[in-house]
Amino acid sequence: MKNLQIRKMRDEDRPAVLALQVHEEQLPYVGRTREILQMVGPQHHCHVLTLSEEIVGFFIIDVAYHQSYSFTLQDELGLRAFLIDAGRQGQGIGKNAARALQPYLEEAYGDRPSIALTVNCRNPAAYRCYIGGGFIDTGEQYLGGKAGPQYILRMPVGASR
Ligand SMILES: CC(C)(COP(=O)(O)OP(=O)(O)OC[C@H]1O[C@@H](n2cnc3c(N)ncnc32)[C@H](O)[C@@H]1OP(=O)(O)O)[C@@H](O)C(=O)NCCC(=O)NCCS
Repeated sequence: MKNLQIRKMRDEDRPAVLALQVHEEQLPYVGRTREILQMVGPQHHCHVLTLSEEIVGFFIIDVAYHQSYSFTLQDELGLRAFLIDAGRQGQGIGKNAARALQPYLEEAYGDRPSIALTVNCRNPAAYRCYIGGGFIDTGEQYLGGKAGPQYILRMPVGASR
């Protein structure tokens, strides 16, 4: 997917990010972008996914993830709130974006050893998407999520490679 790009979110992207929606039944896994943006702190680096310059997705790189969860490795980044707009789902964008993440992270966060995420056990599309993108299932589960058990996935980044 040549025209798919990852970049940091800019102030002027806010309306387009607020317009991104997931399906109603997906809300327990990710929430609405309005609520996500309200919870963003300095440790949360907001990013957009663009397809031919149009914003089609969003995610957060949490640079303090390793301080939030006991399952994390030292200095590990976290991937949060990864979503593709409902109208664009099922076209391979998520998997291609997950694949594009590794070279992007090597470049932007090359001093970090790895990135981790949790994905709800009832969310096969997200699980397939991350595995297809190069994440590895640690075999462990995180049980602290509000919407039920979550698999813990991990991918190496610069400093461990
Ligand atoms: C998860 C999400 C980002 C995937 O993006 P996408 O662009 O729709 O995904 P893709 O089209 O690249 O498909 C990825 C994989 O999921 C599979 N898939 C898609 N929808 C599926 C479904 N309803 N059930 C099972 N598998 C599904 C695809 O077949 C593909 O698997 P494959 O590589 O084995 O063929 C998107 O569905 C989304 O935004 N969901 C809501 C937010 C969310 O749950 N985020 C994850 C939080 S951890």
